[in-house]
Amino acid sequence: MDKKYKIAVIPGDGTGPEVIREGLKVLEAVSRKSGFRCDKATYDFGGNRYLKTGEILPDSALEELKSMDAIYLGAVGHPDVKAGILEKGLLLKIRFSLEQYINLRPVRLYPGVWTPLKDKEPGDIDFVVVRENNEGLYAGEGEFIRKGTIDEIALQVSRNTRRGVERCVRFAFEYTKKREKNRKLTLCGKTNVLTYAWDLWERTFNEVAAEYPEISKDYAHVDAVCMWMVKNPEWFDVIVTDNMFGDIITDLAAMIQGGMGIAAGGNLNPEGVSMFEPIGGSAPKYTGKNVINPLAAICALSMLLENLGEHEASSMVENSVKKITPKMKSMAAGRMGYSTSEVGDLVVKNL
Ligand code: IPM
Ligand code: MN
Repeated sequence: MDKKYKIAVIPGDGTGPEVIREGLKVLEAVSRKSGFRCDKATYDFGGNRYLKTGEILPDSALEELKSMDAIYLGAVGHPDVKAGILEKGLLLKIRFSLEQYINLRPVRLYPGVWTPLKDKEPGDIDFVVVRENNEGLYAGEGEFIRKGTIDEIALQVSRNTRRGVERCVRFAFEYTKKREKNRKLTLCGKTNVLTYAWDLWERTFNEVAAEYPEISKDYAHVDAVCMWMVKNPEWFDVIVTDNMFGDIITDLAAMIQGGMGIAAGGNLNPEGVSMFEPIGGSAPKYTGKNVINPLAAICALSMLLENLGEHEASSMVENSVKKITPKMKSMAAGRMGYSTSEVGDLVVKNL
């Protein structure tokens, strides 16, 4: 009997449905080759449903998501919905409620992909960012004081718990050990200014590091990480950081690996249900035109398969992507030399 997985699919807004369609095409083909099956439950959450019904993510659906083997998400963000509503109500709600406390962002330059960094080749850009995904500034703590007056103060608090920091740091050490590249883990923080949060992070990092003598530990301030990511990306193996810094540096990282068209990420609960997504957003201006690059969604699918334990299928998808990228003119929407569906077809053909 074939193995069977339950996958929740949330195509979402904008170009989300188009890239997810290609991802599912690849899933269909690779599952047939590898001998497993997927039961898909599709959910129409996103801007359109919210505008029609006022509902973003009902509690009953959240409960259903908890019973899945994985979640595959397209994009969140609608031009007619105020910024923050869908992000908080859907994406962050799932990340928090399902305790997906790691945001994993592999940064790899694939063959033939243009990078804005001069003289850098695929082997030079190959690292992973482990971003804490449940706390920090994203916890949403804060308040207005004397709102609307000249004396107004807006407080936005970064919440860092020992438990939250430790499980993230521990994950990063384990990941670095298993990755077997340079066995180097860089803590990306701001110990020189943010002396509460980063004191806790640094202490936790050093304590956990003592259990991993085989891993070389490194520290860099977040501003320096930005500089080195552009100047010497080959220095990095695994970077661990908090939610806000992780959000920012992974957009920079996405650009050096060829742009949002190819950048994928996973929201992991190592003990529970994880969610995989292209990190690029809903790209309203390209919606419905069959021009968006589906490779980020297809790379997210490869991560999803890896997470299910379907290692062979995961590698098959990634290897197929590596065969396609040299044939494409660009990773950017509308300039690939192929349509969205043609890129999906090529990945299927090269599996
Ligand atoms: C990301 C996105 C989200 C974030 C937004 C859409 C809330 O930018 O996944 O990096 O800030 O985490
Ligand atoms: Mn982001």
